Amino acid sequence: MPAPKPAADSRVEVTHLVMPFDANTLGTAFGGTVMQWTDLTAAMAAMRHARVPVVTASIDQLSFLAPIRIGQMAILHGQVNAVFGSSMEVGVEVQTEDPLTGERKKCCDAYLTFVALGPDGQPTRAPPLRTDTDDERRREREAGERRAARLASRTPRAP
Ligand SMILES: CC(C)(COP(=O)(O)OP(=O)(O)OC[C@H]1O[C@@H](n2cnc3c(N)ncnc32)[C@H](O)[C@@H]1OP(=O)(O)O)[C@@H](O)C(=O)NCCC(=O)NCCS
Repeated sequence: MPAPKPAADSRVEVTHLVMPFDANTLGTAFGGTVMQWTDLTAAMAAMRHARVPVVTASIDQLSFLAPIRIGQMAILHGQVNAVFGSSMEVGVEVQTEDPLTGERKKCCDAYLTFVALGPDGQPTRAPPLRTDTDDERRREREAGERRAARLASRTPRAP
């Protein structure tokens, strides 16, 4: 079993400037674009932890609390919350920042599950996670509770 790796080492911060091609007719970022950025941010955090290829197994509910307008920045923070076996829960928070004033608002947060893949393309164990702060321990505990609910609602694989 490899040594546990600090949760903080998986942290990823990604910043996008919302351009017209990212936006709908209201001048705000497409939800699907923000979802793509969220998925990529989480994938990078999962790979930073596992250092092997990963795939998205599931994305929990995503609620958009505030729009991100053209010309504003979208800032995504991702971090591995918990490692179970081959799967990892990654938390991503998306904020919007006005580049002229610096004002930030929370746009959405999401929990995504990634599975580490071995050279054969099959799930393989990810390194254990080391949580060093009260916040990281809380995230890990809450991720365990979410995992139970997630697996209970998992759609069986087609034969
Ligand atoms: C995710 C995937 C690798 C799981 O493979 P599988 O053969 O069903 O593997 P298992 O049943 O052994 O599960 C492997 C791990 O995935 C977890 N898992 C599988 N489906 C899950 C789901 N819907 N939500 C959360 N975790 C899930 C299992 O709990 C297990 O975790 P553990 O090792 O930590 O206990 C497989 O379903 C797959 O490749 N899906 C497509 C992924 C993809 O292409 N994503 C991009 C979007 S299309």
